[in-house]
Amino acid sequence: MLFNLSRLRKQWRGLHARVERLEHQLKETDGIVDALLSDAQYTPHRDLGMNGQHRRKEVVEHLFDRLGFEQVIETGTFLGATTGYFATTFGVPVYTSELISRNHHFAKRSLRNISNIELHLQDSRSFLRDLSQNAVVTEKRTFFYLDAHWYDDLPLEDEIDILAPVWNNFVILIDDFQVPQDPGYQYDDYGPGQSLTMDYLDPIAKRHQLSIFFPRATSSEETGKRRGYCVVASATLADDVRTCELLVAN
Ligand SMILES: C[S@@+](CC[C@H](N)C(=O)[O-])C[C@H]1O[C@@H](n2cnc3c(N)ncnc32)[C@H](O)[C@@H]1O
Repeated sequence: MLFNLSRLRKQWRGLHARVERLEHQLKETDGIVDALLSDAQYTPHRDLGMNGQHRRKEVVEHLFDRLGFEQVIETGTFLGATTGYFATTFGVPVYTSELISRNHHFAKRSLRNISNIELHLQDSRSFLRDLSQNAVVTEKRTFFYLDAHWYDDLPLEDEIDILAPVWNNFVILIDDFQVPQDPGYQYDDYGPGQSLTMDYLDPIAKRHQLSIFFPRATSSEETGKRRGYCVVASATLADDVRTCELLVAN
């Protein structure tokens, strides 16, 4: 009897998670169908991209002003809102990769009139490995936006392990990351050892001599989805990032 009850509970939890996933997918499909029917084309708007977070956009724009990035590499295109933001705000080449073909094709259509974007339908790890073979790309000062996390397979550690030994001058913004001492910022938790927190990132950062920074703005000062994030700098750019008063060193 007891055994059956715990089995039933487990089945119920599995069913509940499945329904939640299906609801999420349905909402996403609805959004895409609506946008396709309206022939959506990306038009810059302050609420579009970076989860609609104005304080975060100020941080990114400040970093671009100070550090003069020559390109952006994004993992996890989704519908291209942040891709469009990067391309139209900074005018530099933007490379982005997406795993799901429907998202990729939607983004491709929406961003079709912006020439400085290269969209790849590819897992983020093979995408970064391919780019890492191209010296023209790796020698440039690069802003990475690592946002390819949504499913049980979390590629973040691999992504950093691929890029950090090859690019010399880079800053990474990791989306959905826990901001210590500010629970108002939401973050991703994919289970034991797979939570986007300092416990996860610290050994990776040490391995590659990376410095970590957090937003100075509190979640209550932020707008949009209030997703947490951190900024990670290569050893070569850490001192420059440290001068950015919108960030606090870890
Ligand atoms: C949070 S969304 C990205 C949002 C987008 N960067 C933006 O700011 O609008 C995450 C996306 O990453 C994609 N994704 C998940 N795993 C991936 C992987 N291994 N490689 C590439 N894309 C992946 C998902 O399909 C999803 O579209």
